[in-house]
Amino acid sequence: MAHRILVLGAGVMGTGITTLALRHGVHVTLVDTSDAILVAARTRIAAELRMAQLVAGPAEADPGVLETTTSVLPAIGMADAVIEAVVEDAVVKADVLATVSAAAPPGTPIITNTSSIPVDELADAVARPENLLGTHFMNPSYVIPTVEVIRGPRSGEPAMAAVADLLAVLGRKPIVVRDAPGFVTSRLLHPMINDAARIVQEGTASTEDVDALMTGCLGHPTGPLRTADLIGIDNLVDALWVLHKRTGDDRSRPCDLLLGKVRDGHHGRKTGRGFYDYEEVFR
Ligand code: NAI
Repeated sequence: MAHRILVLGAGVMGTGITTLALRHGVHVTLVDTSDAILVAARTRIAAELRMAQLVAGPAEADPGVLETTTSVLPAIGMADAVIEAVVEDAVVKADVLATVSAAAPPGTPIITNTSSIPVDELADAVARPENLLGTHFMNPSYVIPTVEVIRGPRSGEPAMAAVADLLAVLGRKPIVVRDAPGFVTSRLLHPMINDAARIVQEGTASTEDVDALMTGCLGHPTGPLRTADLIGIDNLVDALWVLHKRTGDDRSRPCDLLLGKVRDGHHGRKTGRGFYDYEEVFR
């Protein structure tokens, strides 16, 4: 049973997974590249802990302890599992995974949290490919009860079992799928969001009306464009490129409206502006 995890990347997902873990009594060492990012992450986690209390009720365990650091190596030996949640870029992920897997004790499961990158593309970079598998926690991780788990062709049973144990500690239901670009959820969701943005770009309907139709007529909990803001439009575009380049599917080529928002720095909730404006900005 994992009680201490190392989380790499203190962005939207790294902080959300940390919030979830702290609420379940798991100790977290959170790593990013600068102290400024880590200070902002602590503020965000404090806000998320309050939000989680409101949305998901009181925590079921005494809170875990949070440590933050820019030095990944000293913390690795202590961790029951490593969760990598850096940017959706296979080169950056491979680089980070190579460093941590080489330093980790032999049986430590190495988890890549990704929206779209096939796990096996990263397996050559890690010291023991059998320890590597994927998760696709949804945002906000401390609210969404199910986690897509990706078994790469080289993922071993001990690592799969360790992650099942960790998710049980975190109160999350795993659904295990095979390795493919975008797995199941992003393969379905991301092209749909791209289509929604294209509909706005073409002038067929407004942002608000697209979302209102998808929630009001089709029963989606959140419209696709508000979901884009929640995901982070920069991350969404990175994942769409992965899908487009790996599958050749033209629906996944990011449309100009999305590309323009990334260019202008309007990345959604995390920057205060995307398809909608937000008062609360965490960094
Ligand atoms: P983000 O852009 O919010 O955060 C990424 C963080 O990684 C940044 O703080 C950055 O400074 C850090 N980072 C970059 N290089 C690093 C390094 N070498 N060492 C340590 N930290 C480093 O990205 P986000 O949204 O948190 O996504 C993280 C991963 O999770 C991506 O692979 C993404 O596709 C996936 N994901 C994102 C979801 C979302 O809704 N945003 C949902 C599910 C998965």
